[in-house]
Amino acid sequence: MQFTIEVGRYSPDGTYADSASREESFPPPWDKSPPRRYQTYTVDLPEHAVVLDALIAIREYQDESLAVRCACRSAICGSCAMWVNGHSHLACKSKLSDFTKNGKTRVESPPSMPVVRDLIWDMGPLWKKHLAVKPWLEPKQPVPGPREEYRVPNAAMDELIQEVSCISCGCCLMDCESYAINENFLGPHALAKAYRYTGDPRDAATKERLAAYSGDGGIWDCTHCYECVTQCPKGVAPLEQILKLRKMAVDAGFTGNAGTRHADAFAESVRDSGRLNELTLMPKSTGLFNIIGQLRTLPSAFNLMRAGKLPPIIHRAIPGVQRIKTIFQRVGGRFK
Ligand code: SF4
Ligand code: SF4
Ligand code: FES
Repeated sequence: MQFTIEVGRYSPDGTYADSASREESFPPPWDKSPPRRYQTYTVDLPEHAVVLDALIAIREYQDESLAVRCACRSAICGSCAMWVNGHSHLACKSKLSDFTKNGKTRVESPPSMPVVRDLIWDMGPLWKKHLAVKPWLEPKQPVPGPREEYRVPNAAMDELIQEVSCISCGCCLMDCESYAINENFLGPHALAKAYRYTGDPRDAATKERLAAYSGDGGIWDCTHCYECVTQCPKGVAPLEQILKLRKMAVDAGFTGNAGTRHADAFAESVRDSGRLNELTLMPKSTGLFNIIGQLRTLPSAFNLMRAGKLPPIIHRAIPGVQRIKTIFQRVGGRFK
């Protein structure tokens, strides 16, 4: 079966084959990534072939200059993560026939990550974030003796199986919308790892971890776009782990930050009026007495005004709002 592959090439020294296309830039927020030049190849492979089979066939039999990273070819090592048709995937797990659109499949290194050459991207930012969450256990006292072991209930470890399945491929981070606009965000991969250690009953650093993850660039910077849940090839669902960390952080009293103020403002608005009053959301999230923070939000307010998207100053009351208040009473917690 014949497949057509369009490969995004990047050469740090600027040398390209004559058959490569003209430079193509990425749209915002990835427009800082160097433009790619695309080269089209045709390969003859069985119907069940995956994207990586095609790339290896190109490198072995057509163009030895193509740089592609892979190792296990079994969706275990995580080294072949790349963009396939504009989203992150493991090339060794992506069946070519499923990804062929309008007769071809486009592959390239993700523009959210520094590119080294062709399909190889620099994993440095991923490992930096990983290390930032201290991905190791701080042993709980008393530490068992040399011939003993920590006894942990099976259920506690079952709870962590999803996070342990992570292969650090970076698919979640490379497509994360928050990371795309804020490189300081720890991101879905590191935060899923963070829950793996924070949720482990053998760990003694729960409070310190939760304090650190609640700061700038931490658990509250995720915008719930679900991209990491959709793209993770191992079912880790990083967003779910971020939500668990948020609950742990709030339960432990780490609430004086923009993230928890935002959640509170959201809940209060719905509780009191039955609808979301976006006009009060930003000032309350920033902190009503945080004058400098309030001033920083002014450009966003002007942009909303210019675009005609400023919400109404006075909302009409919703009939039966008392029933919504009753729901809040029943759910209880701090949103009561
Ligand atoms: S859900 Fe959150 S962490 Fe996951 S990709 Fe979206 S912004 Fe990033
Ligand atoms: S959470 Fe999933 S997508 Fe993210 S690095 Fe781990 S395995 Fe890859
Ligand atoms: S080559 Fe190892 S995950 Fe694809």
